[in-house]
Amino acid sequence: MRSMTRQADAQNVDAVLDRAAGLGREFLAGLVERHVAPPVAVDSLRQALGGPLADAGEDPCVVVEALARGAGPGIVASAGPRYFGFVTGGVLPAALGADWLATAWDQNAWTYVASPAASVVEEVAGQWLIDLFGLPPTASVGFTTGATMANFAALAAARHAVLARVGYDVEEQGLAAAPEIALFAGEAAHATIVAAVQMLGLGRARVRRVAADDAGRMRPDRLREALAAGAGPAIVCAQAGEVNTGSFDPFDQIAALCRERGAWLHVDGAFGLWAAASPALRHLVRGVDAADSWTVDGHKWLNVPYDCGYVFVRDGASHRGAVTVDAPYYPQATAGRENSQFVAESSRRARGFATWAALRSLGRQDVADLVERCCALARRMADRLRAADRVDVLNDVVLNQVLVRFRSPVEDDDDFTREVIRRIQADGTCWLGGTIWRGRAAARISISNASTTEADVDLSAAAILACARAGRE
Ligand SMILES: Cc1ncc(COP(=O)(O)O)c(C=O)c1O
Repeated sequence: MRSMTRQADAQNVDAVLDRAAGLGREFLAGLVERHVAPPVAVDSLRQALGGPLADAGEDPCVVVEALARGAGPGIVASAGPRYFGFVTGGVLPAALGADWLATAWDQNAWTYVASPAASVVEEVAGQWLIDLFGLPPTASVGFTTGATMANFAALAAARHAVLARVGYDVEEQGLAAAPEIALFAGEAAHATIVAAVQMLGLGRARVRRVAADDAGRMRPDRLREALAAGAGPAIVCAQAGEVNTGSFDPFDQIAALCRERGAWLHVDGAFGLWAAASPALRHLVRGVDAADSWTVDGHKWLNVPYDCGYVFVRDGASHRGAVTVDAPYYPQATAGRENSQFVAESSRRARGFATWAALRSLGRQDVADLVERCCALARRMADRLRAADRVDVLNDVVLNQVLVRFRSPVEDDDDFTREVIRRIQADGTCWLGGTIWRGRAAARISISNASTTEADVDLSAAAILACARAGRE
């Protein structure tokens, strides 16, 4: 075994941090110019990074160098300004610095005793988020890996609450003998709502999908009909920001219907709830504060590094009741917040530091500016694209999402749209993905990176249109 003195260890740490910082800087310096998703053969990555584990360890600097060299060709510039795939944010400098510190500190954020600082930071940043989104000030907050697990925790709280109201303890008794829960979600609800239902044992097939309009907004008239058909425990899942169109369900009407029926209302606002942080866009989420639980992502529009999502629940007791784990050796009655009482995890990364730093570095005004700027850039992109021949923008660009379809004089438009997407991805100026919207193939453009500029949009629009033209030739 390699023998190490504490001094040698310290020198190693200094050297490896310097080297990692240098490599990180080099990457970031080249991010804007990089091919956004360079083609890479999976076998070449396996070859560069694989092989049997050696008996003898290596010098940490050599290891970090080898990682950067081996992984480099497989690193996507998704943190860069022209990555429009999925819904992807970049990283604000303060969040990056804070996240590096979180790693250096290596705090376990699960309990106050393991990290009083991680506990207080989640308490403080959670309250800032509640304030920005205009949610009930006493709502509870959990810091999750992302919106998927935020939806999971929120629906666990919902399951707890609606069954507790009819005298059933689901955590104790399980679902086998539980009263049925009626579940409703919009036709265009995100796949992770269904995933949460699946993981909670509620049954994917039991979700009643409520018809949506052409923009993907749940139709309140249809929800009214669906809710009228039954009584008893019920959960309704609405959405702020449909993943293709960016549209918002009409929360004020939906909330009124849920109130009448005594149903729990959950809102998946993974990216769309950020509209609430902008005075200019807040009208899009009117009535959202009347819900019982909410999901938002940090790693999308707040531009904090992966991974980071948030779950908010009006009734903190239901939230805690659904996910809290206890054991005789777990700290009891500590002086501060127990972060683990709000997520389906125990030991975990102290992801609150990056959120705290991002929010503090932006302030209320720049959070609003970030959201509004991305929306203005999305409208600019849509204008550039729809001005061209045989290019259709399929959605009303209410937020940061643009749905585009390319037409060909000779080819089937679905095939042609997929071919144009393939060409854009290969071109490397920008990256966007495909989808099926209302039965037709389309390209999705999602703008959520704080560093994207008008010049990036113009450059990307020109590249997209050039790929469409080339496809027709
Ligand atoms: C509306 C919505 N909900 C949930 C998710 C899943 O988010 P995550 O990948 O952070 O778990 C997304 C991702 O785009 C989304 O748009």
